[in-house]
Amino acid sequence: MQDNHILVEGPEDTSGILIIRFNRPEKKNAITQAMYRRMVKTLNFANEDDSVRVVVFLGTEGCFSAGNDMADFLNYGMAQTSEPPAGFEFIKALADVKKPMVSGVDGLAIGIGTTLNLHCDMTIASSRTQFKTPFVDLALVPEAASSLLAPRVMGHQRAFALLAAGEGFSAKQALEAGLIWKMTEPENVEAESLEIARKLASKPPRALRIARDLLRGSPVEKLQRMDEEFAHFSAQLKSAEARAAFEAFMRR
Ligand code: COA
Repeated sequence: MQDNHILVEGPEDTSGILIIRFNRPEKKNAITQAMYRRMVKTLNFANEDDSVRVVVFLGTEGCFSAGNDMADFLNYGMAQTSEPPAGFEFIKALADVKKPMVSGVDGLAIGIGTTLNLHCDMTIASSRTQFKTPFVDLALVPEAASSLLAPRVMGHQRAFALLAAGEGFSAKQALEAGLIWKMTEPENVEAESLEIARKLASKPPRALRIARDLLRGSPVEKLQRMDEEFAHFSAQLKSAEARAAFEAFMRR
């Protein structure tokens, strides 16, 4: 990974806010194994370091993330390994982050670029954002405990449309579905996300932590669902139908 594909900022110079930014715009911020590994380290640091009060995920202009890197999907599918990929470690880390998480989404939010937000406590998205999880079209299945969290947040019909039918959600639809906290104009996404993070960072941390834990419940159920999803996901990654879908993308 180029060192700058994930940019990490804070917490000292940002009043306790740890910013994780997807920064691979030439590939629409598609996330590689190395990028996942960097984020796992950063989330572990956020858990352990008292000076981190809030974690914020941001992307680049017009693009949050186009999801998992397709070449990595293809390589994993062809490799003779049963070792989970780094993306799996990342989503497990995400379910277990002890600090509030905010995301600021502008533009493309595909695959994990959408499901990551189900783990965030407050998401601001720009009016031009498109959320989409084309798992089934790629011969894959929902991940990141989205099969558990999305129906709870938005009910079966909308969760099915998003996660199984692969229907895109506009920011307005995402707001109506409860996937995001607020819609704003593209130029305001970062400022408003950081403003929310600043407010959260200034609250009594113990009370906020307890309130958050009560609202979110134990991570155990999410981690179990991730294991269940991953058993199917990894088998599908190795399937001929998934390989055909990845190769079709690579050939475009
Ligand atoms: N993995 C790897 N590379 C990706 C990528 C991904 N998930 N998404 C985009 N890219 C790359 C493209 O290959 C292209 O690289 P190139 O310039 O070297 O050819 C570059 O990013 C720009 O993408 P492009 O497709 O030309 O831009 P676009 O605006 O026409 O379309 C998307 C953008 C995101 C709609 C389209 O790239 C796409 O569908 N990507 C796959 C998304 C996906 O299915 N992710 C997995 C979800 S589980």
